[in-house]
Amino acid sequence: MVEFALPANSKVGRGKTHPAPSGAKRAKEFRIYRWSPDDGQKPRMDSYTIDLDQCGPMVLDALIKIKNEVDSSLTFRRSCREGICGSCAMNIDGTNTLACLKPIDEVKDAVRINPLPHMPVVKDLVPDLTGAYAQLRSIEPWMQADTPPPPDAERRQSPDERAALDGMWECILCFCCTTSCPSYWWNGDRYLGPAVLLAAYRWIADSRDEATGKRLDALEDPFKLYRCHTIMNCTQTCPKGLNPAKAIGKIKQLLVERQV
Ligand code: SF4
Ligand code: SF4
Ligand code: FES
Repeated sequence: MVEFALPANSKVGRGKTHPAPSGAKRAKEFRIYRWSPDDGQKPRMDSYTIDLDQCGPMVLDALIKIKNEVDSSLTFRRSCREGICGSCAMNIDGTNTLACLKPIDEVKDAVRINPLPHMPVVKDLVPDLTGAYAQLRSIEPWMQADTPPPPDAERRQSPDERAALDGMWECILCFCCTTSCPSYWWNGDRYLGPAVLLAAYRWIADSRDEATGKRLDALEDPFKLYRCHTIMNCTQTCPKGLNPAKAIGKIKQLLVERQV
């Protein structure tokens, strides 16, 4: 059985301190959530102070430097370091964001880094997204059409039909929005959350998809959709500047319109 620890909160104790290297000219402290399923210890916040003159500008640069030069046991996800893979999503200075897009200089004091909130933790800064991906699978995020495509041609869209997908195709599934949503915190087992609902609307809005009725039927549920209370945390936190709350509103509107 896989063990999990809940992400950090105010009760997480101080852990190890790794002081600044000698001669550091621009010392900066990073307080990082640590928990391992392998050592039987409680979660803790370890402190690492590094020299920013010897580090790249982003929080991900600091994490990589710490892992490479100070503590190889520190565990986090990253891949593209360009804000397009979504792997490095975490809570930095109290906000869910991408470590590769977060400038260190934007944080005045010590940089506090925790895993995405209210998700089980696999280790350190790595959240377990198994449930979120199962929810994504449940909305069948692929094009469905009985009409065959034209022979020797792709399915065409007008410029306006294509533009209707803007603000949705850019989603990188980082789940910063979902893990900032209070409704998802309390009902994440049944409420789909903003990232998955944005993905659902992306296919509902696609002029080539012919499964709109089935998709809306599946979402018409007091928990899957209607746990959204328009609190807007999701839209405020999205590191790609997307608006999942608006997409959720559009789904609700379509459900109302088809009743009249
Ligand atoms: S608008 Fe809806 S999905 Fe977004 S944070 Fe609020 S309750 Fe969650
Ligand atoms: S809507 Fe934004 S915050 Fe949510 S998963 Fe997509 S990119 Fe991430
Ligand atoms: S490493 Fe890919 S989004 Fe940050």
